[in-house]
Amino acid sequence: MFDENTLARFESLETPFYYYDLALLEKTLKTCKEAADKYGFHVHYAFKANFDECVLKAIQAEGFGADCVSGNEVKKAIEIGFDPGKVVFAGVGKSDKEIITALENDIYCFNVESVQELGVINELAAKRGKTARIAIRINPNVDAQTHHYITTGLEENKFGVNQWELKACMEELKKSANLKLIGIHFHIGSQITDLEVFRSLCVKTNELSQWFGEHGFQLQILNVGGGFGVDYHHPDEAAINDFASYFEVFDKFLERKPGQEVHFELGRALVAQCGNLISRILYVKNGIKKNFIILDAGMTELMRPALYQAFHKIENLTADKKANSVKYDVVGPICESTDWLGKEVELPVSKRGDIVALRTAGAYGQVMASGYNLRDIVRSVYSE
Ligand code: LLP
Repeated sequence: MFDENTLARFESLETPFYYYDLALLEKTLKTCKEAADKYGFHVHYAFKANFDECVLKAIQAEGFGADCVSGNEVKKAIEIGFDPGKVVFAGVGKSDKEIITALENDIYCFNVESVQELGVINELAAKRGKTARIAIRINPNVDAQTHHYITTGLEENKFGVNQWELKACMEELKKSANLKLIGIHFHIGSQITDLEVFRSLCVKTNELSQWFGEHGFQLQILNVGGGFGVDYHHPDEAAINDFASYFEVFDKFLERKPGQEVHFELGRALVAQCGNLISRILYVKNGIKKNFIILDAGMTELMRPALYQAFHKIENLTADKKANSVKYDVVGPICESTDWLGKEVELPVSKRGDIVALRTAGAYGQVMASGYNLRDIVRSVYSE
């Protein structure tokens, strides 16, 4: 929902752009922080969801840590002011250069995804006289029951170490004087809306945590990743996730040893609802089989529909609300048939120049934008 002043502002600006409601972001962050603090849980924000500078600054100011997946994200986190002691570095393919960046910044922990990576980090740390803290990312073989493109915790996925490789990890760790194992890490997928899935993850984590205990490793941290999904169909009614229920699942089902910390890596749940892609209608094409709305934003600005057939609620903000509704395919200007943003969308009769909002676009929206067709990289506008 946008008030009249915001709408007037949209009309005065060149489109397309991402519009961030910073008040909603702050409220979301506070709600999450409070719910996590209740149990002493730590949340590292997953940078990959959105690395807009204002968004990052707000997240840093609320005391979150940073979950990074590239050397540049690590650098950005430090630049924004995240405490290096709250920065973790994950990723299945960390380059030597990226590992060195992280070592030189003395980050808190590497989430390691293969036996071979253990050897590489150990060698690079030894050369610099450092000890790298590590958590082993384990593939728990838990089905996240989400879109198969964003499922990560099954044995067929490239992520993490499989359970049958844990012995080999232990052997490697015994040989690695410059590594310190501090925890285990899981991330089973994204956009998970069924809390039961997280309960299954807790059961699996308990099992594995016990295995490490039996093998003489006392783990300081259990990192259960991110993945908490948002409601793409009700951006206003469900503007802030039910963080209390989410963390309660972990409090109830995750067994913790005294002093053991629980870490989370939330991305989408923190930033999705505060971001909207604002666009103008360039053309309306009415046909016999289909009516098309052609926007000045497309898959170059918001790739999720083209890539995952993802749903984003589309609203015409300036049409006459009393006008008849018509079904449109809402598409972008890119020379690709996959360049669509919504199919069979019911909207009031729309015309050239109308302003359209694509809701719930704050996570994995702007960060996945591209310059394909030599288009301008989409900019940010913030609430006042
Ligand atoms: N931790 C790890 C290791 C991850 O791989 C991810 C996301 C997260 C945390 C954060 O997950 P979240 O809380 O945001 O679900 N581009 C896709 C989503 C890809 C997610 C990748 N990993 C999309 O647009 O839906």
